[in-house]
Amino acid sequence: MKAFSSTNHILFISIFISSIFSISSSEQKPYQDANIQFIRTSCNSTTYPRLCFASLSKHAAFIQTDRVLLTGTALNVTLKAVKATSAMMSALSKSYGGSMKPREAAAMKDCVEELRDSVDELRKSIGEMSQLGGSSNFELTKNDVQTWVSAALTDESTCTDGFEEVHNNGTLKNTVRSRILQVAHLTSNALAFINQLAASSSHA
Ligand SMILES: *[C@@H]1O[C@H](CO)[C@@H](O)[C@H](O)[C@H]1NC(C)=O
Ligand SMILES: *[C@@H]1O[C@H](CO)[C@@H](O)[C@H](O)[C@H]1NC(C)=O
Ligand SMILES: *[C@@H]1O[C@H](CO)[C@@H](O)[C@H](O)[C@H]1NC(C)=O
Repeated sequence: MKAFSSTNHILFISIFISSIFSISSSEQKPYQDANIQFIRTSCNSTTYPRLCFASLSKHAAFIQTDRVLLTGTALNVTLKAVKATSAMMSALSKSYGGSMKPREAAAMKDCVEELRDSVDELRKSIGEMSQLGGSSNFELTKNDVQTWVSAALTDESTCTDGFEEVHNNGTLKNTVRSRILQVAHLTSNALAFINQLAASSSHA
């Protein structure tokens, strides 16, 4: 009974989180084409272009063809996903409770802490980015933002490494790993945009 409801729990949470990335299937208005193409082209230079496009295309009307807005939106989408994953981990910890093996419980606990750090680092980055206003002036903040987002990525990777060491092939491990990998990929994509912005601002 307990196992059954836990599985449902995972399923429910997975569907809930997947819905964050769902793309509206309604037809695009003509003026949106250039905006969509901008996101497609920008995402093409990231390591995970399909995830990039799936997570950003619904914000096309807001981003238009502005690289600062693209980067800020990528960070906001990433933060939202990290927070959702963090909440999922806490929920799983609660529902699995004592049935976890000690190493698994320890990896879970470390992971929750690493995700919390990652949320802080992304929040700081978003705070700095949102002070940029229009465009330019990224020069001043780029080092901070690059450092924080890199640190967030490191924290997330440490978390997946922790689960790598737990030697079982159960649902818990697979669910957690795939969610963490997805947030790490979103973070990696956001970092790619930040680095591009940094590279272009130093020539401006
Ligand atoms: C994506 O990049 C590849 C080369 O890396 C290029 O051939 C392709 O045309 C690009 N697609 C878009 C939509 O920019
Ligand atoms: C990201 O979120 C912050 C905080 O909610 C907000 O101030 C900022 O305008 C958002 N940036 C973008 C590009 O949506
Ligand atoms: C775990 O691995 C064993 C043996 O490789 C396999 O029989 C079993 O179906 C696997 N369980 C899951 C949940 O993947």
